[in-house]
Amino acid sequence: MKVYESVLELVGNTPLVKIKNLTRQFGIKAQVFAKMESLNPGYSVKDRIAISMVEDAEKKGILKPGGTIIEATSGNTGIGLALVAAVRGYKCIFVMTDKVSIEKRRYLKALGADIVICPAAAKYGAPDHYLETAKRIAKETPNSFYPDQYSHPANPLAHYRTTGPEIWRDTDGKITHFVAGIGTGGTISGTARYLKEKNPNIRIIGADPYGSIFKIYKETGKVPEATPYLVEGIGQNMPVENADMKIIDEIINITDRESFEMSRLLSRQEGIFCGGSTGTNFAAVVKIAKNLDENAVVVFIVCDTGEHYLTKHHSDEWMKEKLLLEPQKITAGLIVETKSNGAPKELIYVTPDETVAEALKKMNQNSVTQIPVLEENQSVGSLRENQVYARLLENRELLNAKVSEIMDKSFPVVHADASVEEIKAKLRDFPAVLVEEFRQIIGIITRADMLDL
Ligand SMILES: Cc1ncc(COP(=O)(O)O)c(C=O)c1O
Repeated sequence: MKVYESVLELVGNTPLVKIKNLTRQFGIKAQVFAKMESLNPGYSVKDRIAISMVEDAEKKGILKPGGTIIEATSGNTGIGLALVAAVRGYKCIFVMTDKVSIEKRRYLKALGADIVICPAAAKYGAPDHYLETAKRIAKETPNSFYPDQYSHPANPLAHYRTTGPEIWRDTDGKITHFVAGIGTGGTISGTARYLKEKNPNIRIIGADPYGSIFKIYKETGKVPEATPYLVEGIGQNMPVENADMKIIDEIINITDRESFEMSRLLSRQEGIFCGGSTGTNFAAVVKIAKNLDENAVVVFIVCDTGEHYLTKHHSDEWMKEKLLLEPQKITAGLIVETKSNGAPKELIYVTPDETVAEALKKMNQNSVTQIPVLEENQSVGSLRENQVYARLLENRELLNAKVSEIMDKSFPVVHADASVEEIKAKLRDFPAVLVEEFRQIIGIITRADMLDL
């Protein structure tokens, strides 16, 4: 029978997949391959180190039956450790920051782990920082093991023993460039050590988010002040023991916008559904590959799956909220769904039979200066506050008149798929446009709403 003893035997031996459409699109001559770590059973590169750190602790007698694994993680190491714990009968507590996606938190809980969330804004060394919190919980928990992936030698060793040899074997030793992000540094340091031993000319490229310290730290030896960024799992605000700066030849800074755009492109044009840090890696590939010819063989890491980020950069709504969505993807429907400027989210409207006094009250209560008049969910007219008051100055009696008697013509109606250009063209002549989907008016877009894009 061709069977496996447990899911742990499925970790590693991930394939290299050729990038074709995007290399053509970016005019890249080099051969570029994605190392599909998202195909591990925990869907990330971190499954490898989970097994190697736990086996090391078992061998040394640090982790005993019934013991508890405690780790600080951006999620993926936790998922790997939780798989090992499930198979081998350990308990798990993971400490993460509130930056970690909801998907990863739920995933860990589903695997039976307990999770503790700390503020991402906590200063390094402060008691509420996630590393300090993990250390404290480990100290207080009897029969526990705190791997500390940032310093544990079994982290880079796992990549020296598996990731590096796999890439060397699968490229027939032809690899010329290796590109990876730096979180704990285990992936890049361990893989690079193996590859450089085989061929010291292989270039090792680190992909680092703007805001992280690694590029400046490598180039100057100084630790700059870190600034926030949105990509998960990579970059740091302080040097890390497992991130060997000497073995990395070059570090390239990548913006959140580039990382997420590349991650989305990999999904849509190569079918490689991946996380944001994979986008960071591929953005670095695109930058270095400009100067490479067809003899170059570039391998980059697909760190994890896009499923961990369905509510983050794979969601148009989230991308728009963060002002990162490609302009051509912003539609009228999306603008209505994601208003963030304090404007009412639900559509405020009046019917033709309501009185002018009632209409003014509604506008006042909702702090709007114009209001559509709808009948059976179709737009039949509109009221603008300044015009209504101008008429009331002449004839106060109109307060008791019906809206239909004084209403103006309807605001223009666009379909939910309408583009920003289409909406802007209409807003030149009207203070607002209405948005329609399935023949129902679903919302209103004012000039002020457009300032948020
Ligand atoms: C999504 C993601 N990408 C990349 C990495 C970086 O890997 P390493 O810690 O080996 O540097 C991590 C590590 O946590 C991660 O979670």
